[in-house]
Amino acid sequence: MIRVENLFYQYPKNQEDTLKSIRFEVKKGEIFGFLGPSGAGKSTLQNILTGTLTGYRGKVSVMDHSLKHLGEDYYEKIGVDFEFPNFYGKFTALENLTYFSSLYRRKTLDPCPFLEQMNLLEDAKKPVNRFSKGMKTRLGFIRCLLHDPDLLFLDEPTSGLDPSNARILKDMVKELQQAGKTIILTTHNMHDAEELCDRVAFIVDGEIRALDTPAAFRHPSEKNLVTYTFFNQEKMEENCQIPLDELHSDLKFLRLMTEKKITRIHSSEQTLEDVFLSLTGRTLQ
Ligand SMILES: Nc1ncnc2c1ncn2[C@@H]1O[C@H](COP(=O)(O)OP(=O)(O)OP(=O)(O)O)[C@@H](O)[C@H]1O
Ligand SMILES: [Mg+2]
Repeated sequence: MIRVENLFYQYPKNQEDTLKSIRFEVKKGEIFGFLGPSGAGKSTLQNILTGTLTGYRGKVSVMDHSLKHLGEDYYEKIGVDFEFPNFYGKFTALENLTYFSSLYRRKTLDPCPFLEQMNLLEDAKKPVNRFSKGMKTRLGFIRCLLHDPDLLFLDEPTSGLDPSNARILKDMVKELQQAGKTIILTTHNMHDAEELCDRVAFIVDGEIRALDTPAAFRHPSEKNLVTYTFFNQEKMEENCQIPLDELHSDLKFLRLMTEKKITRIHSSEQTLEDVFLSLTGRTLQ
């Protein structure tokens, strides 16, 4: 679906390249994550892939066509959820969606089921300048789905959303993948990346430092320890640590389990954040 080779990008007024030697491929039907700290170049990369930024060096092809020769119909096939979505503030949410739908040649979808799914149906007739940040974020997500595109670019789609709306949006992303869409998800939220992405590229200072599946990044090491908490004779809580692969034969643990005295069990496998920190020396936020 996407092939990028040796991509470099320099903003006209900057001295240095913002993107350096970027190389990756995205398969059809994949959810592919760009994960990295603020300023790493994630949105710059997304803007190149969506044709918003031109003047890059290297090869970028999407749907088997070089981005340098993509026609107007490119925007019929891709959906872009911007980091900072812009709307016509004096118009209602529904009027905005109807207007943006009218820009497409292909038949567009009814926005109302999406508005309902994203808990915005009651606000559909309110002017967008009365919307909160989270409401605009949800509206931006709906807007990018209206023409039923095959390839979606989502830049921080859960930013500013409360947990319940973030959950709804993430479930919709999974449904879109099941419907055959390819999705590029840009985020510095490692939980979203871990839950949604088939593969993740770690981007730091404009470079891809590592690229793999979340599971492969987190692969359990010998040091993977389990901590369990139980009540001792004095009815005080006590902790015990043991390697995960020895847990099944640990007699004390097995006895406490049978006696139903264990109150908590925590495994300490690496999170994507830990992996990111060890690979780059940087945190994601
Ligand atoms: N229009 C611009 N002109 C010049 N430099 C820019 C421009 N837009 C972004 N940059 C710079 O390019 C670098 C990458 O920015 P970008 O917005 O791609 O980061 P990001 O990874 O998306 O960060 P965030 O997580 O905060 O959204 C930053 O150093 C930023 O200052
Ligand atoms: Mg960004």
